Amino acid sequence: MKINDRLKKIGDLVEANSFCLDVGCDHAFLDIYLVERNENIRAIASDVNEGPLNHARENIKKHHLEDKIECRLGNGLDTYSDDVDTIIISGMGGRSMIGIFKNHLEVLKKVDTIILSPNNYQIDVKKFLCKHYFYLHDEELVKEGKFIYQILVFKKGKKKYSKKEYFFGPVLLEKKGKLFMEYYQRELVSREILIKMLPKNYRWKKFLTRREIKMIKEEINKK
Ligand SMILES: C[S@@+](CC[C@H](N)C(=O)[O-])C[C@H]1O[C@@H](n2cnc3c(N)ncnc32)[C@H](O)[C@@H]1O
Repeated sequence: MKINDRLKKIGDLVEANSFCLDVGCDHAFLDIYLVERNENIRAIASDVNEGPLNHARENIKKHHLEDKIECRLGNGLDTYSDDVDTIIISGMGGRSMIGIFKNHLEVLKKVDTIILSPNNYQIDVKKFLCKHYFYLHDEELVKEGKFIYQILVFKKGKKKYSKKEYFFGPVLLEKKGKLFMEYYQRELVSREILIKMLPKNYRWKKFLTRREIKMIKEEINKK
C-alpha cells in the first residue's frame, strides 16, 4: 500500500500488537498500511460521514482486510470500544480534536496511547492532554508537499512542561531534527506578518506574538 509521507510516519509510530481506533479515517489508507505492515495490529476505521466510510469499506475490501479492520460510522469517540488501546486522529484542526475528547473524557482513562496530527492549535492540544494525565512520549515533523506537519505521540503519565516546551514540543526541542529549523523559521515569518497586520487595539495579541517571536529567535539562533 503506497501512502503519503505524513500517514506513513503516523503509521510507523504505532506499536506492534496495538488495537487502534482511527477517528476520521476517510479512505482508511492509514489503517490498511498499519495492518499490512504488522500482522498483529488491528484497527477500527471510523468516520462521521457515510461517503468517506464507504470509500474506506471499498479500499479495505480491495485489500482483503475485512477481518483486520472494522468500519464504524459515528461521531468522534462514539465509535470507541473497550479493548482499543490506541487512538489516532489526523488531518483535523486541534480544537476539533479537543472537542472530540471532551465529549468522551472517560475514554482518556482507558487508553494508553494517543497519536495526533492536528493541523493547527497544537499547543492547546498538548496542554489539554497533559492536563488529563498524558505526556509527550514522541514528536515528529514531516514534510508533505509544501506543508510541514506535527505528529504528537502521547502516553499515559504525568510530566510538567515549561511554556517553552509546550510551545516547541519537549521532544522536538530535544531532537532538533532537520525540519525543526525550517518549521520554526516559517512560524517566525508568519508571526512577523501577523504583527504587521494586527489592528492597533489588539495590544494583548501583539504582546503575545512578540513574546513568541523572541522565543523562536532565541531558539533558532542558538549555537
Ligand atoms: C481531512 S480528512 C483526514 C483523513 C485522514 N485521517 C488523514 O489524516 O489523511 C478528515 C476526515 O475526518 C472526518 N471527520 C471530521 N470530523 C469528524 C468527527 N467528529 N468524527 C469522526 N470523523 C470526523 C471527515 O469526514 C473526514 O473524512
